[in-house]
Amino acid sequence: MSFPITRHRRLRGSAGIRGMVRETILNVLDMVQPIFVTYGTGVKNEISSMPGVYHFSLDTLKAEVDEIAALGIPAVLLFGIPETKDAIGSSGFAEDGIVQEATRLIKQWYPELLVVADTCLCEFTDHGHCGMVHTHTVNGVVHGDVINDASLELLTRTAVSQAKAGADIIAPSNMMDGFVHAIRAGLDENGFEHVPIMSYSVKYASAFYGPFREAADSAPQFGNRKTYQMDPANLREALREAESDVLEGADMLMVKPALAYLDVIRTIRDQFDLPLVAYNVSGEYSMVKAAALQGWIDEQAVVLEMLTGMKRAGADIIITYFAKDAARWLRG
Ligand code: PBG
Repeated sequence: MSFPITRHRRLRGSAGIRGMVRETILNVLDMVQPIFVTYGTGVKNEISSMPGVYHFSLDTLKAEVDEIAALGIPAVLLFGIPETKDAIGSSGFAEDGIVQEATRLIKQWYPELLVVADTCLCEFTDHGHCGMVHTHTVNGVVHGDVINDASLELLTRTAVSQAKAGADIIAPSNMMDGFVHAIRAGLDENGFEHVPIMSYSVKYASAFYGPFREAADSAPQFGNRKTYQMDPANLREALREAESDVLEGADMLMVKPALAYLDVIRTIRDQFDLPLVAYNVSGEYSMVKAAALQGWIDEQAVVLEMLTGMKRAGADIIITYFAKDAARWLRG
């Protein structure tokens, strides 16, 4: 009888040996937990399309942040639902805006916990686009263009106001051309040259953001985001986006979404040296939650496998609505 020349199973025989040869290890220190903050008092409302994720008012936020800090998660990413919206998203850069207020509170409670501010206008504009728009109506249908350079000014004001409130990291997600350069210049001019930019460099026009748009009340009121977010079919374009962000001074790059874009994560990892962030977005969360609630999958195993896949693909940091769960599971 002839024997196999190679026996791969020798290194799989026990938990001990599997652990020793494991190539990718999830670490809570690499995770970022997103939080949705809103006005009102006593608000802790579950987002219907994202079971287990809530809107918090500023008075209920403390308990949530206590939990995140106790789990050893190093960073939160803030999204705000404002009281009023207008054409230019002015509550996004108001000194007493909801994100600014929440940032000040969190930094007071936990000076060491990193606050990452998502710099965009779509939650704050009445039209739901990520910048300023020009609209015209043809046969009763509203058409609009997002105006790049005028939007940069508003986005820069937003980033500066977030930094003033104490944000540790500015994470611009708007996909205008030149946004890293504009925001870097604005931060530097205002004495925030030490604040890093985590750029949503490679952000696709994805249907996986659906639940988030309910959570953030940020669905575009006309058209879609395809004139500024990337076509899911493109990879070489991702290299061009990342390259311009590097040249403009980004400190970290991001690929978003994650699951359907693991090849993009790997490619960016191989071509650029900056820390790379994967955003495990709302639709990815909700799909897993829905199947888990039906009892169709083992939630813990599936989530840890997905997050491991993102790290194996090359992500250094993962933004995920599962951060708290993952932190508990990795402990336990
Ligand atoms: C703001 C922004 C979005 C997400 C993060 N920042 C929505 C969008 O671009 O429509 C999506 C996050 C998620 O789906 O979890 N532009």
